Amino acid sequence: MNIGLLGCGVVGGGILDFCAGREDLTVTKVLVRRPRPDLGALAVTDIADIVNDEAIGIVAEVMGGLHPAYEYICAAMKAGKHVVTANKAVISAYYPELTGLARECGVSLRCTAAVGGGIPWLTNLERCKRLDSICELGGIMNGTTNFIMDAMHASPVSFPEILKQAQELGYAEADPSADIDGDDVRRKLTISANIAFDALVQEEDIPMFGIRTVTDGDIRAFKAHGFVCKLLATAKAAEGGVCAFIEPTLVDSHDLEAAVPKNFNLITYCGEKVGRHSFFGQGAGRYPTAFNAVEDCLDIVAGKPGFYTQAMKPAPVLCGGEAHPYY
Ligand code: HSE
Repeated sequence: MNIGLLGCGVVGGGILDFCAGREDLTVTKVLVRRPRPDLGALAVTDIADIVNDEAIGIVAEVMGGLHPAYEYICAAMKAGKHVVTANKAVISAYYPELTGLARECGVSLRCTAAVGGGIPWLTNLERCKRLDSICELGGIMNGTTNFIMDAMHASPVSFPEILKQAQELGYAEADPSADIDGDDVRRKLTISANIAFDALVQEEDIPMFGIRTVTDGDIRAFKAHGFVCKLLATAKAAEGGVCAFIEPTLVDSHDLEAAVPKNFNLITYCGEKVGRHSFFGQGAGRYPTAFNAVEDCLDIVAGKPGFYTQAMKPAPVLCGGEAHPYY
């Protein structure tokens, strides 16, 4: 199947590498903002060149941001193309609109790379629902904040110092507020909760509290009592809605979450009957993220329907945080 790629930065480059030499997936056009001689004849600068190309079956969006990504995704689906995206901001903000449009147009909309980078999280969340009901999900969904918390536990270093190091290593953005204040996790939790519970939770309804105010003194005191502090996201099925929140949480030093190092993620769901399944891995980066985006393309080639298109019900977020325990 032919792919029209929207954006060719870090993740887009990874998608090109994974598809190179494959017969089942071929990137035939790449939408770029500026001329890219390295892409040769693949590069186009007008979205119409991709949307109107009848030979393209999948549009893979890795531009990021809300606009024009939202408009381009809508245009692609209206033109009958399946859409794969790694863009958590656009899926989280426009979940009802995009999944509704996918249903109306009879196309697949898949966004496995948007939550947990290269971890097969959303795919397994969906698989679990075939046999069981999910009662709770969440965990460590942001690598930057885990890197910071991990380093603060390992040695006495202040929050501003370790944030600077995270930026130098390329983990945190130049403007790291989306990571450290919780917005990045909130988008991932919104998408996960909506898929797990067939819900329509809106991201702004989820209370969040980031790690900006955690001090090295706090960490010393937590350690002295056998606890490790992690930024945890939680969503639970509740009577009449979903209970969801994000906050720095104390976990027992023997818990799995406590052992998650550096910028790794650990995401868990609990099925009513099957119990806990946890997924550990790299939540960001060129090849992990491109891996899940290309997996989504392969699932479409294999004829699997978009798994984000079932009937959904509005779900009020019922309550905010509770301290711990977690599961
Ligand atoms: N900034 C995110 C993180 C990248 O640190 O986990 C992937 O969403």
